[in-house]
Amino acid sequence: MVSFSSIALATAAIAGAVALPTNSTESLLARRAGTPSSAGTHSGYYYSWWTDNAGQATYTNLNGGQYSLSWSGNNGNLVGGKGWNPGTASRNINYSGTYQPNGNSYLAIYGWTRSPLIEYYVVESYGSYNPSSAAQKKGTVNCNGANYDILQTTRVNQPSIDGTQTFQQFWSVRNPKKNPGGQISGTVSVSCHFNAWRNVGMNLGSQHNYQIVATEGYFSSGSATITVS
Ligand SMILES: *[C@@H]1O[C@H](CO)[C@@H](O)[C@H](O)[C@H]1NC(C)=O
Ligand SMILES: *[C@@H]1O[C@H](CO)[C@@H](O)[C@H](O)[C@H]1NC(C)=O
Repeated sequence: MVSFSSIALATAAIAGAVALPTNSTESLLARRAGTPSSAGTHSGYYYSWWTDNAGQATYTNLNGGQYSLSWSGNNGNLVGGKGWNPGTASRNINYSGTYQPNGNSYLAIYGWTRSPLIEYYVVESYGSYNPSSAAQKKGTVNCNGANYDILQTTRVNQPSIDGTQTFQQFWSVRNPKKNPGGQISGTVSVSCHFNAWRNVGMNLGSQHNYQIVATEGYFSSGSATITVS
């Protein structure tokens, strides 16, 4: 969260979470830190949960599109959420629940495409750090009644869903953000963002990978219970 490199590292590690070694050291770390990293399908939704095990974190898949996450320790990086795999270019994504970060965190639609490989975010809310502060602003767009800054950055030789690659990150960051600290809900029409991105030369890939509503914490604490539909 503090830097784009840390976000990419975290998110790329999600993609690779299933490939993590599971020897006794790993298991011990996972137990100490809370819920071990995993990804897959739960109750009809795709989920992805990743932690670097530096903080204390509990991620729980609940019924349907609901998940809960609580983290503490002001240490390390973790991100999880539910959604779909593959994502689409037309889905209207609803989310509702509570989002209570204390420090550096964000709540975002998050996904990947291939052909070309692109990592993308639609950030609805965040804690103490605005993730757009480290990217190049390409424009603005109004979607679902709110303004968003459009940003892009290049990731060079960074982890991805296809291993270490050089690729683009696309961002829409809601401005002003939805207030964190309690109840939160919204709808994101991803086509609105994807079309706006295309209009400023930011073209997603033709093949969608996963598309989730993610909560991330970076050297912080907090909790979230989010229902995705
Ligand atoms: C066990 O896991 C640790 C932490 O990931 C790793 O550094 C170590 O190489 C692993 N050992 C074996 C034998 O796989
Ligand atoms: C999303 O929210 C809108 C507006 O409240 C509603 O009309 C729609 O049915 C919801 N979609 C899903 C899949 O829950």
